[in-house]
Amino acid sequence: MILELKHIYKDYLQGKLVVPVLKDINLSVEAGEYIAIMGPSGSGKTTLMNIIGCLDVATKGSYLLAGEDVSKASDTHMAEIRNHSIGFVFQQFNLLPKLTAQDNVALPLLYGGVGKKERRARAKAALEKVGLGDRVDFRPNQMSGGQCQRVAIARAIVGMPKLLLADEPTGALDSKSGEQVMELFRQLNDEGMTIVMITHDADIAKQAKKTYHIFDGEIRENQKEGGAADE
Ligand SMILES: Nc1ncnc2c1ncn2[C@@H]1O[C@H](COP(=O)(O)OP(=O)(O)OP(=O)(O)O)[C@@H](O)[C@H]1O
Ligand SMILES: [Mg+2]
Repeated sequence: MILELKHIYKDYLQGKLVVPVLKDINLSVEAGEYIAIMGPSGSGKTTLMNIIGCLDVATKGSYLLAGEDVSKASDTHMAEIRNHSIGFVFQQFNLLPKLTAQDNVALPLLYGGVGKKERRARAKAALEKVGLGDRVDFRPNQMSGGQCQRVAIARAIVGMPKLLLADEPTGALDSKSGEQVMELFRQLNDEGMTIVMITHDADIAKQAKKTYHIFDGEIRENQKEGGAADE
């Protein structure tokens, strides 16, 4: 099992008011799986992704990532896990505007202590993999949204993470660019990458091999046939 969430609760404090957001989430994902998590706005999808991605911690419950209990990890160790084990793709790409595609992709390797020559070579290879070998020197404002998202995917996979997390990866894209991103995810999953994708688009969710639904902080698995059409 690459990740196991057991009885995860997340509350936010709003002044003195406790706002329960996640309620007894149990979720297990095997290495090589490709799952989509759906649910209406405000249901807790990003909150859950932040916990899975070690960007936030649960209020209660345990989280095992590749067998390691990360629910009690220090901030430094969480940062290490994020850098070495998890690739992130966000709706808004989150590229640095002043850096070229290659330097954006190389950035996690810089934080990971990889030498310059290797960083550049690996960044270039990752860009070639996402079909942007001819855009290495372009800055984000010189590329289309779909290209920017593919740069972000190259950045997410350049460190060869165990797990790829994507929060609405096609949310800011036209349908053709969205389809290219989905094609890339399929290819990465075929090569063995575990993918957890959040989306509220049922057509996008269908690309995953398994879908879950969050409703009001509770999660359940959708049945394979026709389960995801209620949004
Ligand atoms: N830092 C915070 N402090 C207080 N409440 C928060 C905080 N972050 C999120 N929430 C609340 O938690 C709930 C879930 O938010 P979350 O961002 O996880 O939803 P979501 O399912 O990702 O929605 P969307 O589809 O709109 O992105 C919301 O009601 C939100 O108000
Ligand atoms: Mg969200």
